[in-house]
Amino acid sequence: MASLLTRLAQSSTSRSSSILSLSRTMSTQRATLNLKNPSLLKSKAFVNNEWVSSKSGKVFQVTNPANNEVIGEVPEMGNEEEVEEVIAVAKKAFETWRHSTPKSRQDLLAKFHKLMLDNTDDLATIITAENGKPLPDARGEHLYSSSFLEWFSAEAMRNYGDTIPSTIPGLRNVTIKQPVGVVGVITPWNFPSAMITRKIAPALAAGCTCVIKVPEETPFSGLALMELAQQAGFPPGVLNVITSQDSPKVGQVICASKTIKKVSFTGSTGVGKILAKQCAGTLKKLSFELGGNAPFIVFDDADIDAAVTGAIACKFRSSGQTCVCANRIYVQDGVYDEFSKKLVEAVKKFKVGNGADEGVTHGPLIHGRALAKVEDHVKDAVDKGANLLLGGSRLTGPEYPSENYYEPTIIGDVPEDAACLQEETFGPMAAVVRFKSEEEVLRLANDTDVGLAGYFFSRDVGRVWRVAEALEVGMVGCNTGLISQASIPFGGVKESGYGREGSKYGMADYEVIKVICMGGLGTN
Ligand code: SIN
Repeated sequence: MASLLTRLAQSSTSRSSSILSLSRTMSTQRATLNLKNPSLLKSKAFVNNEWVSSKSGKVFQVTNPANNEVIGEVPEMGNEEEVEEVIAVAKKAFETWRHSTPKSRQDLLAKFHKLMLDNTDDLATIITAENGKPLPDARGEHLYSSSFLEWFSAEAMRNYGDTIPSTIPGLRNVTIKQPVGVVGVITPWNFPSAMITRKIAPALAAGCTCVIKVPEETPFSGLALMELAQQAGFPPGVLNVITSQDSPKVGQVICASKTIKKVSFTGSTGVGKILAKQCAGTLKKLSFELGGNAPFIVFDDADIDAAVTGAIACKFRSSGQTCVCANRIYVQDGVYDEFSKKLVEAVKKFKVGNGADEGVTHGPLIHGRALAKVEDHVKDAVDKGANLLLGGSRLTGPEYPSENYYEPTIIGDVPEDAACLQEETFGPMAAVVRFKSEEEVLRLANDTDVGLAGYFFSRDVGRVWRVAEALEVGMVGCNTGLISQASIPFGGVKESGYGREGSKYGMADYEVIKVICMGGLGTN
């Protein structure tokens, strides 16, 4: 197993690095974040409503990918016994929390939501510092993140059961929903805040307690959320955060634990498969939101300007580091030249730089391994005959004070065997492919083991339904490149995982349905 983990850590630059990676470049230069409320920037882990050091006293540094400055240090807790102790704290808290009323949980989530909004500027600043996304994007993530608290605050009171007609004389059947228990939450660096709230909000609403492993690259957003959760009044032990660079170890302890009844993970398919195996011994309930390889299809009958806007939002959001990013842009012959030209013109207007600087539209990649993958994909596609339409190089010089900057890149006429069409690039590179017919593009779009999101642009209503139904994905964007909202069921099919997050379905993953068949009540 150890060698498999090492191989995956080396080979994958996507979100698997949230659980399997080495630290970013070591640095001694300190960052100054200028927070209105500096107490939001934590240097301790959070257990039982207390800010704690690791037992060993060890810490690790977290740096800003935009300039390699040290944001701070957090405890290194990758020790089996230590993780077990945190799980035990969450178990004890569950015994009380599970009996709290849905109304009280609703109120706490609503307070937590309000506190998030009250601290918008600081929380966005922290996201930008640790992840690198530009401040406007970070604010967008922050609002998206807080919306899960708002949504599940309301859902807490809509957690209905059923009455079910009986086939046995004299019985009445009803169902109730009960919290599954202690939940292990493992989150990625690409959405340091939103991927936490998308999991803990339904868990809390359902009456579960949580052990959260925050990513080593971006632990501060999760810790800041804990400060606000504590202020909101969540009881001790309901929310706990572990910080560690030894993600494989912490993940393994969480997955093997008999106390943890469910694991919710967002990250790569490779790591998802490892975690699923580790969870098999205890047959836990799992929600896995894993890798994608999203097709983005532009048909001849599309509104081309809208398709270009959609492609920009979808492909280049967070510099291409989202699991729902367009990874393969298929454009029909008749509009290929117009679309490619307009896409190039639009991307030329990007301003790449430190996301904290005014006017910057696109930030750095998370680390050097992420950048190396983009470089490999560009080279591979060009070597195989693709046309480089824009970009294609690292960005260096005084305005790029780290090694993590890459030019927004567009490659045209990408051949079918290019690596960038087989796997997520997870970076600012758009691969554009020419196609002739609807049948051909559906074959290409579905020819992958994963199926998270898919997008297409068309104004033909018949085609809209045909293609939406035919795409083998969990989420379809039709005439839009942006789909993420708390109110929709977010999740994939095939090797993109299982379970749905957000929406009226999101709480189900944190509950068990119990049926109660009652007799002795007289005739039906
Ligand atoms: C992800 O990249 O994992 C999530 C993206 C989203 O929720 O929009």
